[in-house]
Amino acid sequence: MKPQRILLAGGSGFLGGELAKYFSALGWEVVVLTRSPKSRTDVVREVVWDARTVGDWARELEGATAVVNLTGRSVDCRYNAKNRREIMDSRVNSTRVVGQAIAKCKAPPRVWLNSSTATVYKHTFGSAHDESSREMDSVAEAKDAFSVEVAQAWERALFEEMDGRLLTSLPKTRRVALRTALVLGLGRNSVFPVLRRLTNLGLGGRQGSGKQFVSWIHEADFCRAVEWIIAQDELAGPVNLCAPNPLTNAEMMGGLCKVRRMPFGLPAAEWMLELGAFFLRTETELILKSRRVVPGRLLASGFEFRFRQFREAVADLEKRMTART
Ligand SMILES: NC(=O)c1ccc[n+]([C@@H]2O[C@H](COP(=O)([O-])OP(=O)(O)OC[C@H]3O[C@@H](n4cnc5c(N)ncnc54)[C@H](OP(=O)(O)O)[C@@H]3O)[C@@H](O)[C@H]2O)c1
Repeated sequence: MKPQRILLAGGSGFLGGELAKYFSALGWEVVVLTRSPKSRTDVVREVVWDARTVGDWARELEGATAVVNLTGRSVDCRYNAKNRREIMDSRVNSTRVVGQAIAKCKAPPRVWLNSSTATVYKHTFGSAHDESSREMDSVAEAKDAFSVEVAQAWERALFEEMDGRLLTSLPKTRRVALRTALVLGLGRNSVFPVLRRLTNLGLGGRQGSGKQFVSWIHEADFCRAVEWIIAQDELAGPVNLCAPNPLTNAEMMGGLCKVRRMPFGLPAAEWMLELGAFFLRTETELILKSRRVVPGRLLASGFEFRFRQFREAVADLEKRMTART
């Protein structure tokens, strides 16, 4: 029997790397769409695309089981005009072109999963957002106007728009927006090694008030959830990819200190974070927005998390990190 094929558009980064390993291990054929293909030592095939226009790469979609679009310029940068444009365009243009390519397929993929973000939901210290929440306004305190705008445009490109028209021409392809929270893993671009380093330096205290919520998911559960969604024919629309137990920033940093056996962690006030973010060329919104999001649809469909608690997830990553060194 021919193996199932999965296309990972923008799959050369952190999450694409994890999914490529995961689906290769399951015996799937894995194709990564990238602007700079490289030769690899594993079975994964890299195919060139420009993330903007339909080209030869689109043939890879014929007969594929799934396409996952992970493309996006990193948000870990200063939000100046150039970076804002790249952040927005890389997400919206890649989403549009995947849709256009699927529309031209004779045998389109059964399912199209497109990255989105848990940041789409409103900054909150109140009850958690599941997918039924319609609260998506930005809040000045969270400085999240741009991120929310990007998240909404990204999902519009997936569900509604194509060439300015409603995207109703993909009757055979189920569409899912992956509203992904912070993915905890060991790969390049994962935030876990950064938090670990801060903790080692004695800087593992609360950041800002420490009351803001952090939604997260272990990289293994991220991959398992993607496989689960591909298999669930009734799951379409937005799906939150996050563990069921978000925690506050103070609890998160305290948990890291415990796991690292650090007796103290100096807190960082908001002004220190602003200063640090300026010198590190990043934005404090990534730390200060309160993201309290739960995986309503994954749980309702019967998905079982391997890592439900932050401490368990971090202990697992820590063990693997130590085994590597
Ligand atoms: N990691 C997380 O915790 C997390 C959480 C929520 C949402 N997400 C979203 O999930 C997606 C994947 O995340 P990730 O951590 O794997 O990101 P990543 O490591 O930065 O990889 C993203 C990929 O996008 C491509 N890309 C970057 N800039 C681009 C541009 N200007 N134009 C076209 N393509 C560009 C790159 O591929 P090539 O250079 O090879 O073309 C890159 O490998 C992103 O959209 C991210 O916003 C991630």
